[in-house]
Amino acid sequence: MAVTLVDSHAARVALFVTGGIAAYKACEVLRGLQKEGCEVRVAMTRSACELVGPRTFEALSGHHVTLDLFDDETSPIPHIDLAEWADLALVAPATANAIAKMAHGIADDAVSTTLLACPCPVVVAPAMNVHMWQNLATVANVETLKARNYLIVGPESGRLACGETGAGKLASPEQIVSAALYRLRARGDLAGRRIVITAGPTHEPVDPVRYLSNASSGKMGYAIAAAAAAHGAHVTLVSGPVSLPEPAGVGVIHVTTASEMLDATQDAFATADAAILAAAVSDYRPDKAADHKLKKAAEPLDKIELAENPDILATISADRGDRIVVGFAAETDNLLQNAREKLARKGCDLIVANDVSREDSTFGADTNCVTIVSPHDEETLDCMPKEQVAEAIIERVHDLLEPDDDYLAPSSPDATLLMPKAGA
Ligand SMILES: Cc1cc2nc3c(=O)[nH]c(=O)nc-3n(C[C@H](O)[C@H](O)[C@H](O)COP(=O)(O)O)c2cc1C
Repeated sequence: MAVTLVDSHAARVALFVTGGIAAYKACEVLRGLQKEGCEVRVAMTRSACELVGPRTFEALSGHHVTLDLFDDETSPIPHIDLAEWADLALVAPATANAIAKMAHGIADDAVSTTLLACPCPVVVAPAMNVHMWQNLATVANVETLKARNYLIVGPESGRLACGETGAGKLASPEQIVSAALYRLRARGDLAGRRIVITAGPTHEPVDPVRYLSNASSGKMGYAIAAAAAAHGAHVTLVSGPVSLPEPAGVGVIHVTTASEMLDATQDAFATADAAILAAAVSDYRPDKAADHKLKKAAEPLDKIELAENPDILATISADRGDRIVVGFAAETDNLLQNAREKLARKGCDLIVANDVSREDSTFGADTNCVTIVSPHDEETLDCMPKEQVAEAIIERVHDLLEPDDDYLAPSSPDATLLMPKAGA
């Protein structure tokens, strides 16, 4: 799907190619972006030019390639021209050196100076030797960039060009393009908002190898987290044990038990504007978990004493003040009646009720059939993919949140990422 931004121009991506051995793969990234309807301009470091010729990028992009600040026949101030032109900055591959310069605000060549001047979102695809990647300097620099909401894609683990095996391989061009589109498509109407989302089941240990749980796959919560991030929110996803890839641009905290989930959710909610609690939390846990594997002959497991788990939705709702809280009700009988009672009992803003007895709405399915219950109305959605259900839930949460005065209102409903007001 082509990306079209507010003022109807095709999305403009400034592709920064730095001096990694994977620089040649930036050609595929460029082509992938063009296939998605993006216009791409390229800037390269001196080291990148040692590895791939700028003419290749010039031919592919159809634009002059920015190489030098003071010797550019197309512009007297090339870094500002490119920075202001771009809707998105993409650094691929990003060397350890380029990452360090971005983290520290160093501007000593055309690439680093343009990146410092870019007001748009930045996506970074690191690629380097495993020891360079694991060096604490690089680790700290990457953390600095993440904290500034730069989206880091990869690197992957595998056999590296230097002959070593480990983390440091450039993410695939498809992954990089998809991360760039993800940032570009963000409508940004939740920019500046912090949302905590829970997902998946919890595991309540019986002994070190056995646990009580349920069949939740985590797909609904993960889809909500991805949708919230796509709207520009700062998302913390508190995830029980699931086998799903982490959504791009989302901070994930992995937990196992209900009590760990409560602690992580409360911590994240302390600074959040909204909580969407989609996890299927075990209501009960074994009262005493054995610290060794129970043996069938010596310690038959014919009875498990249960203790009640903390009620995460009720606890978060009790402490919400004027913040938004959304709960889920997975039911097999009396769906709406149970959801209405749950809404009143827990004191939250919305309950998303889903009938898990249906095949197209059950745990693990890719679709969901839900009714969103509020104190004022009930909205039954068609059965649809969980991504679309997630979008509908995020739109309801957006409507419930008061406008954030620190952020400029979008000029149209399709507005792209919002920029903080100067000084905000
Ligand atoms: C053949 C070759 C391959 C290199 N590959 C990488 C790489 O994949 N990642 C990296 O961080 N540095 C790599 N380097 C080192 C960088 O090129 C070097 O740190 C350079 O200063 C980076 O400059 P730049 O960030 O301005 O492009 C490589 C060097 C050579 C000679």
